[in-house]
Amino acid sequence: MSTHDYSRLRSARWYAPNSMRASAHRQRTLAMGFRREEFQNRPVIGIVNTWSELSPCHYHLRERAEAVKRGVWQAGGFPVELPALSLGEVMVKPTTMLYRNLLALETEELLRQHPIDGAVLMGGCDKTTPGLLMGALTMDLPAIYVPAGFMLSGNWRGAPLGVGTHTMKYWNELRAGTITQEDWHEVEAGVARSPGTCQTMGTASTMTAIAETLGMSLPGASSLPAMDANHVRMCSEAGSRIVDMVWADLKPSLILAKNSFANAMIVHAAMAGSTNAVIHVIALARRAGIPLVLDEFDATAQRVPALTNVMPSGKFLMEDFHFAGGLPALMQRLRDLLDLSAMTVTGRPLGENIATARVNLDDVIRPLANPISSEPGLAVLRGNLAPEGCVMKPSAADPRLLRHEGRALVFENIRDLYARIDDPDLDVDADSVLVLKMGGPEGAPGMPEWGGLPIPKKLLEKGVRDMVRVSDARMSGTHYGACVLHVSPEAAAGGPLALVRTGDTIRLDVAARRIDVLVDDAELACRRAAWAPPDYPVQSGYVELFRDRVLQAHEGCDFVGFGRRGVPEPEIF
Ligand code: FES
Repeated sequence: MSTHDYSRLRSARWYAPNSMRASAHRQRTLAMGFRREEFQNRPVIGIVNTWSELSPCHYHLRERAEAVKRGVWQAGGFPVELPALSLGEVMVKPTTMLYRNLLALETEELLRQHPIDGAVLMGGCDKTTPGLLMGALTMDLPAIYVPAGFMLSGNWRGAPLGVGTHTMKYWNELRAGTITQEDWHEVEAGVARSPGTCQTMGTASTMTAIAETLGMSLPGASSLPAMDANHVRMCSEAGSRIVDMVWADLKPSLILAKNSFANAMIVHAAMAGSTNAVIHVIALARRAGIPLVLDEFDATAQRVPALTNVMPSGKFLMEDFHFAGGLPALMQRLRDLLDLSAMTVTGRPLGENIATARVNLDDVIRPLANPISSEPGLAVLRGNLAPEGCVMKPSAADPRLLRHEGRALVFENIRDLYARIDDPDLDVDADSVLVLKMGGPEGAPGMPEWGGLPIPKKLLEKGVRDMVRVSDARMSGTHYGACVLHVSPEAAAGGPLALVRTGDTIRLDVAARRIDVLVDDAELACRRAAWAPPDYPVQSGYVELFRDRVLQAHEGCDFVGFGRRGVPEPEIF
């Protein structure tokens, strides 16, 4: 006999009263073929599922939701699946980042408007992890994050292929004429071999690992391959666990604290994780009401070496990371740096979750004394070009470019870039600094992954494979190069990037954490006086709302004024 007090369930407001309105709720649930005992007096678990046929990363989540439901039923809950914006990174235009905040809003409102007691959040592709979590943190119902898992390892002629990383590498080789069109088609077919997220340490793998580090996923969940039976069982376990979390009222506000975010930054540094994660983690911290600033990432990366030997900074793929012991093993290696008392969805502290984890492959998860690079996985730079900061990934850049001075070649926007970059007469050499404006949250809008500017074709043909590139855009977490990203404030908001001209000298000094344009203040003041804000063409209502409300990169790009906690429950009349 259960001792649970069903009357305190949130869903009881919908299902329990002896009223015509509550009767209608019961009537419509019965109408779907559920028996009364299947939905009454049970926690209702909302499975927020970002599955769609245009999101290959989440293609299998429709089926995996059945495993989650199995776990919910086993534990005495009532599972209901709620479809949500799928946000497949590659298919969505102009960029998924434009819609991360929309998914956050949707998640929050889906949970608020329905009789939901607890949520299982199913995502994994880059923006779905932060989007789902942001909404769930604001709603603050018990919630557990189920990552989609990564796709099968890529392969071409016996050599590993990492999606994104090798897409970029071999596209450059094709443009340089060192591989044929037929070779390229083989690469295209071999790089992404199944549903699941990118199998490199891109934004998806970084963010799912961060969700687990924050305590929002089951231990080990983020380092499971999508097509592995372990993944199916993890989904079922998450379904059972969320029911217990509802009875324990274990909400995100009882899990997330400053120490969870400090742990997330340590893991981010040790993974040489995606630069995009910086924006998302700051947005999550804001939603959780925890102060977190850009410089904390830099300070962490300076003391925590990059240990994870996975592309783009390393040479292995995510499946190798799984075989090496996955995230619990990496955290075990970092245990002296982590706060092991941080709470998690298991109801136990992080330290207990990883107590038995161990590293199986030392070359994949390196010891602290043998990092994959002498350079950190992240650096935050400031200077007269980025007063509010910008980021780069030194471990994935050509070391000779980490201290560099070069002549700026400026592209005013992305159309200008693609119109000229392969022009044989382009005035550029290997020391030039490519600059792209209007790639930020407001200007683009949505801050697309344009920051890995292509190397000009004439330089590729001469063997150049890396250059200093500067923009207010983001870069795919799977890519590499000496790319200075997220320059804040962005050009569209009148940041100094807007004032840079072709021919100016730009100085990058990563060790000093500086990025400057060597133009005197009087000249910059003159240029500022002549600068006018961009005149945007009319866009859809949502895009205009985004532009009006979005915060700058160093603030996490959330909407100003959104994400308030403690909003009253919907009234039922
Ligand atoms: Fe979805 Fe990379 S495109 S995870």
